[in-house]
Amino acid sequence: MNNEFSELVKQEWTVDDTAKAWRKWHNKLVPHLASLTKVLLEAAAIQPGAKVLDIASGSGEPALTISEMLGPTGKVTATDLSTGMLKIAEDNANKANKNNLEFKQADVHELPFEDSSYDVVTCRLGVMYFWDCQRALREIGRVLKPGGVASFVAWGDVSQNGLVRSIIGPFANRKELPTPPPSAPHPFRFAKEGSLTAELKSAGFSQVNEQTHIVPCPWPGPPEELLNQVYEIAIPFQPFFNSFDNQDRQQVEQEVIANLNTFYDGINTDPSICIVAAKAVR
Ligand SMILES: C[S@@+](CC[C@H](N)C(=O)[O-])C[C@H]1O[C@@H](n2cnc3c(N)ncnc32)[C@H](O)[C@@H]1O
Repeated sequence: MNNEFSELVKQEWTVDDTAKAWRKWHNKLVPHLASLTKVLLEAAAIQPGAKVLDIASGSGEPALTISEMLGPTGKVTATDLSTGMLKIAEDNANKANKNNLEFKQADVHELPFEDSSYDVVTCRLGVMYFWDCQRALREIGRVLKPGGVASFVAWGDVSQNGLVRSIIGPFANRKELPTPPPSAPHPFRFAKEGSLTAELKSAGFSQVNEQTHIVPCPWPGPPEELLNQVYEIAIPFQPFFNSFDNQDRQQVEQEVIANLNTFYDGINTDPSICIVAAKAVR
């Protein structure tokens, strides 16, 4: 079940520094990525009392938001490959006194759950990292009840993504960003329209509906802080950022900050982003 990419994904997401950075920025990431949660959950149409499995929950979203929709009889199971990430989610749930959430470390390629046990599966910004996407999607199908819904959000087209263009653009203008093979896990793996639909259909899902959305992503702080946050949590891009020497990096950063300043109103830095949302039925 492991393949050439599995070790890389595990390494990126399970090292201590990754969890430390997500813990540090969680409270600001909530509003920053709230539009993604909205799109994801509108498609999922979760009902009170539902049993929901959230895959790749990271520091807790969207599982924490879902827990508010379920009422006393519903339950959301938050899962992630990384115990460090999941611990942040659990700490955040405890702080908010939530008791309809449970936490389970799990690799999506081998889910430790019975067949047909969930009404809904959600996954925000995780599907791009599944190193054997067909196996992972079939696992999701297996644990969904017949007629159950799976809802995904992934990064969309870079050219329509103000955040990514502003930050990665000045770096990529100086040095070509390495292009990963199509099946390699990376943030923009499903940016091409229809690519996630094709995976879902071949994994046996029906009624697949994929849509592209341009949504706001207000960062509650100045551009410099947004950039620091991206350096710290955009794990797959770190080798590329770190390949620039100090002098080049300083120059590039000035351009990045100038780009981001065009989106700064003194409170939020709010470049729009492009996302792909796909919903499918088992
Ligand atoms: C970009 S973060 C998204 C976290 C959260 N859902 C959010 O939107 O803030 C990607 C998450 O996917 C998780 N992940 C990567 N591969 C996974 C796998 N095979 N099984 C489960 N989780 C995985 C990582 O550990 C990481 O927490």
